[in-house]
Amino acid sequence: MTSPASSRIPGHVAIIMDGNGRWARQRGLPRIEGHRRGVETVRTVTDAGRELGLRTLTLYAFSVENWNRPQDEVGALMGLLEYYLKKELNTFVKNRIRLRTIGRTEDLPAGVQKHLNHTIAATREFTDYTLVLALNYGARTEIGDAARAYGEAVAAGKEQPGEASWERFRRYLYTADLPDPDLIIRTSGETRLSNFLLMQGAYAEFVFTPVLWPDFSKDDLAAAIAEYGKRERRYGLTSEQLQTATPA
Ligand code: IPE
Ligand code: IPE
Ligand code: MG
Repeated sequence: MTSPASSRIPGHVAIIMDGNGRWARQRGLPRIEGHRRGVETVRTVTDAGRELGLRTLTLYAFSVENWNRPQDEVGALMGLLEYYLKKELNTFVKNRIRLRTIGRTEDLPAGVQKHLNHTIAATREFTDYTLVLALNYGARTEIGDAARAYGEAVAAGKEQPGEASWERFRRYLYTADLPDPDLIIRTSGETRLSNFLLMQGAYAEFVFTPVLWPDFSKDDLAAAIAEYGKRERRYGLTSEQLQTATPA
């Protein structure tokens, strides 16, 4: 069976953007220079994702663990985030990109939250392409938050514990209204998830590339998508079962 062309393009790609610090170190530059260049890559890859036909692009920009970095680096990252949001607002609107976040954005600096809220409100109506920024995100924090919300719903009589299931529980995750990622890419040669989308990635395909995030290009994204297109997603079935299934 030849898969229809559309199924070869992942609807939702999620990227663990890694390697900014090493990119800078290789050039004898401060780490923040790597982050600055990383922001340029965010722009390039956001455009590339739309051009390559993705519907949703999630970028892991700041983890709950990243607060433990040196305070000057954390401060610089927050400054860059605010600068990026301010600068990109017009592009989001012009290119009809809907902005969403996952993570505890309520703990971000007030200036960042202001620009986030503004951009999210201004792009709310766009439906073709969604950019999801994972900010102050951690999968274990997300599960804890969801468990709390679910427990409150039980206490309020809105959920029955006897009916608990993944399908019901997932509605309490930050990603309730987002599809699961089809493809998760990590740059910089690291092969770990670092607390990213642990449940939602249950059946994602993975592509690990040695390219450092500031060097990641549209061609690199296209190559990862091409690699995804060669994979057979079996979901527990046998290859033979998939060959004989009639395409919907
Ligand atoms: C990714 O680059 C950016 C963030 C995690 C915010 P790093 O800053 O982790 O770069 P390396 O891993 O030190 O090279
Ligand atoms: C993961 O990168 C987090 C983001 C990309 C935002 P890290 O560089 O923080 O991950 P570890 O520490 O190498 O696992
Ligand atoms: Mg890193």
